[in-house]
Parts: sequence; C-alpha cells; structure tokens
Amino acid sequence: MKQLTRLALVINDVQRFVICDPEKDSLAVVLRRLGLTGTKIGCNTGVCGACSVIVNGQVIRSCTRKMKNVAENSVIRTIEGIGTPQNLHPLQQAWITYGGIQCGFCTPGFIVSAYGLLSENPSPTREEVREWFRSHRNICRCTGYKPIVDSVMAAAKVMRGEATMADITFDPDSVKDIYGSYLPRPSAVAKACGLADYGDDIKLKMPEGVAHLAVVISKVPHARIISIDTSEAEACEGVYKVMTAKDVKGTNNLDSPAVVPRQRGTGLTLFPVLADEKINRIGDAVALVAADTEEHARAAAEKVKQNLEILPAYKTLPEAVMPNAIQLNKGVPNFYMEQPVFKGQDPSEIFDDAPHVVEGSFHSQHEPHLPIEPDTVQAYWGTDGLLTIQCKSQSITESIAAVSQSCGIPTDKIRMIMNTTGGSFGYAVSSNTYALVVTAVQNLDMPCTLTLPYAEFNHMSGKRSATFTNGRLACDENGKIIAAEYDVGLDHGAYGEVAGKIFNNLVSIGFHGYNIPNIKALARGVATNNAFNTAYRGFGAPQIYTTTEALMDMLAEKAGIDPWEFRYRNLARPGDTNINSMPYYDYEVYPKMLEMIKPYYDKYKAEAEAGRAEGRHLGVGLSMGGFLVTIGMFDQAEVALELMPDGTFTHYNTWEDVGQGGDIGALTHAVKALEPLGVKPGQVHLVMNDSKTCPDTGLAAASRSHYMAGNATIDAANKLMDAMRKPDSTYRTYAEMVAEGIPTKYIGHYDQFNIGLPPGLNPNTGEGEKNPTYMYNANTCLVEVDVETGKTKVLRYTTACDVGVIGNRLSVEGQAYGGLSHSIGFALSENYNNELRENNIAACGIPQITDIPDDFNVLFHESKRPNGPHGSCGCSECFQSSNHMAVINAIKNACGVRVFALPATPDKVKAGLEALKRGEEIIPEKYYLGTDFEEELDFIKANPI
Ligand code: FES
Ligand code: FES
Repeated sequence: MKQLTRLALVINDVQRFVICDPEKDSLAVVLRRLGLTGTKIGCNTGVCGACSVIVNGQVIRSCTRKMKNVAENSVIRTIEGIGTPQNLHPLQQAWITYGGIQCGFCTPGFIVSAYGLLSENPSPTREEVREWFRSHRNICRCTGYKPIVDSVMAAAKVMRGEATMADITFDPDSVKDIYGSYLPRPSAVAKACGLADYGDDIKLKMPEGVAHLAVVISKVPHARIISIDTSEAEACEGVYKVMTAKDVKGTNNLDSPAVVPRQRGTGLTLFPVLADEKINRIGDAVALVAADTEEHARAAAEKVKQNLEILPAYKTLPEAVMPNAIQLNKGVPNFYMEQPVFKGQDPSEIFDDAPHVVEGSFHSQHEPHLPIEPDTVQAYWGTDGLLTIQCKSQSITESIAAVSQSCGIPTDKIRMIMNTTGGSFGYAVSSNTYALVVTAVQNLDMPCTLTLPYAEFNHMSGKRSATFTNGRLACDENGKIIAAEYDVGLDHGAYGEVAGKIFNNLVSIGFHGYNIPNIKALARGVATNNAFNTAYRGFGAPQIYTTTEALMDMLAEKAGIDPWEFRYRNLARPGDTNINSMPYYDYEVYPKMLEMIKPYYDKYKAEAEAGRAEGRHLGVGLSMGGFLVTIGMFDQAEVALELMPDGTFTHYNTWEDVGQGGDIGALTHAVKALEPLGVKPGQVHLVMNDSKTCPDTGLAAASRSHYMAGNATIDAANKLMDAMRKPDSTYRTYAEMVAEGIPTKYIGHYDQFNIGLPPGLNPNTGEGEKNPTYMYNANTCLVEVDVETGKTKVLRYTTACDVGVIGNRLSVEGQAYGGLSHSIGFALSENYNNELRENNIAACGIPQITDIPDDFNVLFHESKRPNGPHGSCGCSECFQSSNHMAVINAIKNACGVRVFALPATPDKVKAGLEALKRGEEIIPEKYYLGTDFEEELDFIKANPI
C-alpha cells in the first residue's frame, strides 16, 4: 500500500500544505507539482544546479533532496518568490540586461543561487561569485559564464544602494538604431522569472488523458535482435501498450541520404525509429512503453527483455575499416564516401626536398552537446485535424519530412511547434524522439508525452563526429608554406545523418585564411558503432582545425619562427586562392584578425615569461580560423510581415530559437527593415516556430539564420511598404489598406539558387566555392599547466573576430562567450565514447564556471558583407571553429607536451610530461583509414564521376 504524508511548508513567504511520498518524491518534483515550474529539472542527479532553491537559508539542489529530508515548516524560496515581471528583482533585471540569459533553462537556478550568495555576502568579488557557483554546481552551457558574473555584480550594486534599477535597465526608447544595439531578447523577462514553459513544464500542465512514454534503449553497441519480449511489460500496472518496430507505421527510417548530390559514395543508412533487426549503438530505441503515468511507463520499460546476439563493436574509425571488419549497415560499406582535393603541384614531389617538414596524426573526439534540458516531446491530434508535435526541433521543415517518411503521415497532416528550448547546439536537428512520440499517438489515438531522463537523452541523441587524420606540412627557408597534405577520416557513428554536410567542410575549411599553394587532401566518411553523429556548432570545423592549426604551430617551431609571425607570413593575399582553388572573399580581414590579437598575444607572452621565472608552467597559444555562412546554393528562407489593425506589425517566421536569440534576431530585422516607417521595437509582435502559421525560414544551423531570415525580412518589408506607400510618399494606414482592398500581409523570400554558387565541391578535384560569405577569427590564450597533475587551466582568452555588421550586440557577444566556452571544453575535457557511464553532463566533462576564464575578451571588426542584410553575416560558428587549438598550442608552449588526441585531459598531459622526462615524446602512429592515401587519390583521379 502506498503511504503518503502531508507537510506544511513556507514557500515564498506563504504557508502551503503538500501531500507527498516522502521516500520517492524529491523537493523539485513537489514544487513543480505545486505549479512552481520555475524550478527546473535538468540532470536530476545533482550536477547542474537548474533545480536550485533556498531551504532555511541554504541554497540546495532540490532534485536530490528527498521529501523525507525536508523538515515540517521549512522556509523555501524559489524563483517565483524572488520577483515578478511587474516587480523584477535586481538580479532578474541584471540577468536580462547583461546577457545572463540565452536558452534560460539554467537561469532560475542561477538567480536563486545568486540570491543566496548576496544574502550572505552583499559585496562579493568576481572570484567569490565564481567560487560560489562552482561550489553550488550551477552550470550554464550557453553563456560562457562571464555575463552571469557581470549580472551578479551589477545587481549587487543596486542591492547595496550604489546604483538604481534604472541604471541596470536597458531603455528600449533610448534606441536610435536597433541595429547594433544591446536590446535584450523578448523572452528574457519570462525566463528570468521562471515563467517560460519548457517541454517538461508543458507536460505538467496538459489536461488529463495523456499517455506517458518511456523508451527502452539498447545497452550494448552492436547486436542482432533475436527477439524483444514485451509480455511482462504489457502486464504491468497502468500500461496502455508496448510498441516495437512492427508498430511503426511508415518506413521506420529517419535517415536522409548520407551522400548529397555530387559526392562520391554509396547508399543510404537505415536509421530506425525503433530498432528492427539490429542494434548499432548504445542508445538505439528498442521499444516504447505508453502508460497512464511516467512512473508506470518507466517501471514497465524495465521489464522489456532484449534477446540479442552480440556482435563485434567498432567504436572507432580505424577498427571499422580494418580489412576483416564486418559491414555495419545493410547495403552500405563502412567506408561509405570520400571527397578529394587537388591543388597545384603534387605535394609528394615537394616534401622530400623541402627545407622544413612536419607531420603528425591527430584525433578529435565525439563531443556531446550537453544542453542542460534533456529532450522532451508532446504530440496529439489537434482540433484542426493535424498531428501536432511540440518539441525542440531546430529544423522544423526537415523534422516534419523525417517524421512523415518514417511514421507514414503526409507532411501536410503534421503541425510542428517549437517549445521554449533549453539549449541544443545542433542535436535538435535530429528527429528520432519526435518520431517515437508520433508512433505512440498513431498507435494509441491519444495525446502522448515523453521526457527523457538525462542519461537516456545523452545516449539517444547525436554527437559531434570524431576525426582521425594524418597530415604533413612543409615550408621554405623563409617560412613560406610550400606544400600540405592530409588524409582525414570522419568517424560518423552509427548512421549517416547529415554526414554529407559535415564531410565537405573537412576539405574546405582546413587552413582557412592561409595561402597553401600546393595541397592534396582526402576526406573519408566511415560508419562505426559509436553514437550517431549530427550537427554541432561549427560542424566539421573544430575537427579539421585540430590538424591544420596544430601543423601550423609545429612548422613554425621547426622553422624557428614565432607562431604569430609564421601565420602572418602565410596569410592569403590578393591573388592567392583557398584550398579549393577559389579566391578568398575578404583578403584585408585576415591580417586585421592577427593584428588585433597581437597586443594580447604579446602581453600573455610577457606574463608567461615572468611566470616561468617563478617556476610556473605558463604558455601562450594561437589559432586562426573562421567558418562558412549558410548551407550554400540550395539555401532559401521565407518570413511574412503583416500590418495589424492597430498599426503594429507581426513578423511570422520559423527562426528556431534554441537559446541563441532567434526572437531578438527576428525583432531586430523587422524593426530595421521597417525603419522608414519609424517603427519601434514595441510595435512588432513575433509569431514564431509554428509550421501552421509561419512560412519556412529554414533550419537554425550553418550560421545562416541571421543572414537568410534577415534578407527575407527586408524583402517582406519592402513589399509591405511598397503596398502601403501612397503617391505622395506617405503611408496608408491599415484602414486605408483594407478600404482600398490592398493586402496587409506579405511573404518575404530569399534564396541562393542563382548567385553563382555550385551545388558543392567538384567530386573529382575538390574545386569550387560553396558559400556566399565567411566569418573570420584569430585567438590567443594564456594557460597554466600543473605539472604534478597534468591539469590545464585557461587563465586568459581573447578572440578577434569579423562576423560582419552586428545586429544585436548582446546576442553576438553571448554566442562568442558561449562558443568559446564549448571550445575550451572540447580542448580539455569533453568527450563521449558511447559508454553507459557517460550518463550526465559531469561525466562527459562539461566545464564549470572556474574552468572558463573571467578574463575573457571578444574584439569585433565589423566589415560589411555585400549581400548580407545590413552588411551582416552570421556569427555563432565562428566561435567554435579553431578556437580550441589556441588552448592545445598553449599547452605545448607551457610544458613541451603536444597533445595529438583530444581532449587534453590531465592523464594525457601527465603522460607526455613523463615521456619528456625520459627524453622521449609521445608521437601517435599513423592512423589506418581504410586504404592507402596515395593509392586512393590515384584511384579517384583515374575514375572521375
Ligand atoms: S542539479 Fe538538480 S536538476 Fe540538475
Ligand atoms: S542560458 Fe544557461 S544553459 Fe542556457
């Protein structure tokens, strides 16, 4: 018999009475049941701080506090008791104003935690703030932390009476030109007050009669399914149905072709919604349980039995391409696509006689995205007859197509709405969980909801592809590069999803900004039994810069030239071409990036020198990079603008907002495009991310949204203003438009079909240009290595970037700090190897606040992009391109250890130090990537397609 208890609690200054299961219920669950959903549940294991509340004056993580450990009459404060939209607390206002909010999922926990800090210490130093958040395990994946510390410091001033609320509030009426302003995002107030409803909050607020789902996932990486026994699970209390592959109504295949037009390769992998014949990774969905409660669904899921024939698992690319390896995907070889690059003289003819040559083999890891919010999905038949899916998709149209194909529903029968989303960074382009919930709705004919526990989310979701690369680089006596070659294998995991898009970047982004006169390179795509791989900020760029920016430093050292000078000497100048034999767009920007970074580089070098004199192991690193903008010639975007009866405007779009600021982007573009009408931010409403009501603006990826949606908005605004304009050049009112029968709503369109871009790289030569513009950056940092433990700490970091004319400064700075913090994590700690123990953000190496420097600088150079909206391009992926390599190069500078295989965890650095003590160096052996590099390129030359 279930026994409950009644407890009196003082919550946000009011006595409340709760009924709870003292053994099972956590305080977080009870608070959320009361409707206080500002207390978020992310990890549910005490490692993210999203559930922070104050109990009897102490900040605690409420997800791990069982109700049996909450005393009667405890005094509890949640985010709802700190301030309201009508009466914001200084902390909430500061978070809004200083960029503390992006996706906002961590925000309530941080603000509550900061409230606890300032109650104890009204005048903390920045270091004390950082230490507080570290010790209370408040983790933010979006902001890079610096804006959060800025927010606390600003709020503390107000609370001490040294500043006013007005001082820390951005006044929208003060904006003369919205473009380039610090206007906060429209969703910030709701997020700061804990009132933004994310997926799991929506689940709690749905009407009765909803089926709760639990997924049964594979716990082994490779197996043949003999049978799935669901009988015991079917008999469990509250179970409606247990579904397996036979219950999927469509093709049961989520994958789109791995090989995009003009690529060399074979076939289409099968990415099942529910595994049918085979398991290809830990995290494949094997069965789906629907029950009356989440608890019942989860209990029944435990009873599903997987009868499997275990097969050999290839967790890395070199294993999967061994000559005797078994084929992982039906009809698709393990090594399933390739792209060569040939430019200039064959480097093989140059290397032997070159004055300076370096070579190495490099590995970049499967990086997990680690948003604080796990995946949540609701789906139901709408009153309009559409199957409505509420989820985190950042590619609504593609997700609808994937669900349609795999679940057997016409696309025009599907409506997709994006919930407020607690971070994605790319994983939410995948549709595997959406298709699962749709399958349940189809089978049960009732609304269904799924909230994945973090461990399952981490195993089920896609990751950044890993790479294994062999590379060489040569220069002449003057330090001018004369030849390069690299053979890069993309370890793309279980399925081919987006492989084609990531893949080509490996042979177009490498050595970005330099003049490499002679190069040959090969990119290979390979299937393994690791997680399936998907989009992640900078897709393909961090992987290839791991090789090229290491080789640049290694060659500079070999030639005896300072790494800054070496890079500067090798910059592309007018007349030079990129590795795809195309002219660069902005020759004047590359030297600017290095020049802007130079004072910081010199300062860090002087500090490192002084530190070394005291016996510290300080080092300075550099990297140069950048990334493309848009998905190339096939890219297109639409938005709509409507004049409303009250004279305001509505902007309709699917600029998916994963926390990067789709809302402030759309608002900024609309106000700017309607500038001739004198429109203010408060006069524009946003209708976003609902496929029924919004035109298709395309996916939020490839740093394309600001560029594409911006150009489409200009088109919509021009059409609307043309319609409103009277012969005397004044503008019609809504009433006048209606009276004259003139439409008040216009679709704006922008595409790249006819701007001269080819559909991709030439599959035989690697020649060609894929993108209309690029972003550029150079990075430097100062690190310290603890030679006892091998641990690296980044002390200072500065990036100089050109991301075009800035639309919203708060968002762009936010993307910079956030992307750089992921880059530092990628360099030092983040990893995912498809192991069961990698079940939360801590186990996967997410950086805490003290792992990210507070001395963190972003320097902007704003050159106008000719075809960009108001001179803009994109920004996000610039900050997660080569940025990690400044850290890796700094480690070498600090202690002499070059880490060839990321991340540079303490054990690797320590092993390198031990080897140096023995007078050795750890040099990885050349990777075997399936076939001989030279022979493969000769074969491609002899067999053009
Ligand atoms: S610490 Fe409680 S949800 Fe993460
Ligand atoms: S804003 Fe902190 S996790 Fe997204």
